[in-house]
Amino acid sequence: MAAAQQLSHVYPLGSRLNDSGRLEVGGCDTLELAREFGTPAFIVAEDDIRARARAFSEAFSARTDDFEVVFASKAFPCTAVYRLLFEEGIGCDVASGGELALALAGGVDPARIHFHGNAKRREELAFALEAGVGDIVVDNMRDLILLEDLVPEGRRQKIFLRIAPGVSPETHPAISTGGPNTKFGFDLSHAPAAIERARASDAVDVGGLHFHIGSQIMDIAPFRTALEALTGLGDFPAYNLGGGLGVAYRAHDDPPSIEDYVAAKVDAVNEIVGPGHRVIDEPGRALVANSCVTLYEVQSVKRNVDTYVAVDGGMSDNLRPMLYDARYDAQIADRFGGGTRCHVVGKHCESGDILVRDADLDDPRAGDIIVMPATGAYGHAMANTYNGALRPPVVFVKDGDARVVVRRETHEDLMARDV
Ligand SMILES: Cc1ncc(COP(=O)(O)O)c(C=O)c1O
Repeated sequence: MAAAQQLSHVYPLGSRLNDSGRLEVGGCDTLELAREFGTPAFIVAEDDIRARARAFSEAFSARTDDFEVVFASKAFPCTAVYRLLFEEGIGCDVASGGELALALAGGVDPARIHFHGNAKRREELAFALEAGVGDIVVDNMRDLILLEDLVPEGRRQKIFLRIAPGVSPETHPAISTGGPNTKFGFDLSHAPAAIERARASDAVDVGGLHFHIGSQIMDIAPFRTALEALTGLGDFPAYNLGGGLGVAYRAHDDPPSIEDYVAAKVDAVNEIVGPGHRVIDEPGRALVANSCVTLYEVQSVKRNVDTYVAVDGGMSDNLRPMLYDARYDAQIADRFGGGTRCHVVGKHCESGDILVRDADLDDPRAGDIIVMPATGAYGHAMANTYNGALRPPVVFVKDGDARVVVRRETHEDLMARDV
């Protein structure tokens, strides 16, 4: 047997290999979790999310009194996650009527919800107004026109204007969102007209400007460049600098710390637009990615030119490797180590359904439980039923207890919409 490995920082905080060499998350043995809840399953360490939420709030409090941390809920839109983060004082951003419904069901105070979207439907805006969301992030002129029509007489809706600063951080092009040719927000040449119109409108109050330049950002310098690009647009009470802090997906990944990221953003606001401005941040993956591991069961091991370790999930529970070439680590839950170079592949009818390329596992066999860490962001969120897959449950673990917060999908669910 290959030598045991130490757990890397990609696993949820508090995880460990117990005396039998089995992975424990939130004090629960992952093999027992697999037995009890089946596979695939998303296992989420509650304390990990809480610790990261506190790290954000503490990092901000250390630098400014006037801030708001907002969970970009597209990363993990699940009522239990909204609830947990709201308990930690974190509001949320939603990008559709559906996410708004989930946030409300999760108990988030509507005043702490920021409503986003580059193609908001009239009904979605009406829903947001009726729910009393705190901020609507206006992405384009039609949002403004619709709001002018929808906001009841005598009321004013607080808005932020989303600006594309023309800055592209180093990340995958599919998750770069603030460059010079993006579908999101007003570009710098159109922004002044939007600001002028919004300021003249009786329906809205301009709370500030917003930008979100992209995701999985490992170099924080572009946030400052993006803010600098906005200075010609005037002075605003608040600046929402979006999310984007990168996380560690693999043992050797070394993202900036939450503290350094927050410091860079607050310092940029103080130095570029001056003190006395509210700073808003919208972290998504940095709050949730590392809280979760996915458990799979190996169904077959095939030795072709390469070795394929086929598991009972795949692109139906994690699309990121297929969308962005995202790389992950994987291990066998009770035999951490290596020795067999292989690809961990899914069960779907696509050759591209490869979860982990070039994994290094200890003699994988059918029946083994594979653990794939750092799957809390955009896993459950993008899960789908391709090939009739039953979307996995979400199981919260804490202090040795496990509870299902989203049950596994059933065959009946697959037919629930048939008429
Ligand atoms: C407007 C907005 N804010 C915040 C985020 C969160 O990004 P991340 O999960 O990288 O922190 C996103 C992600 O797409 C976004 O679109």
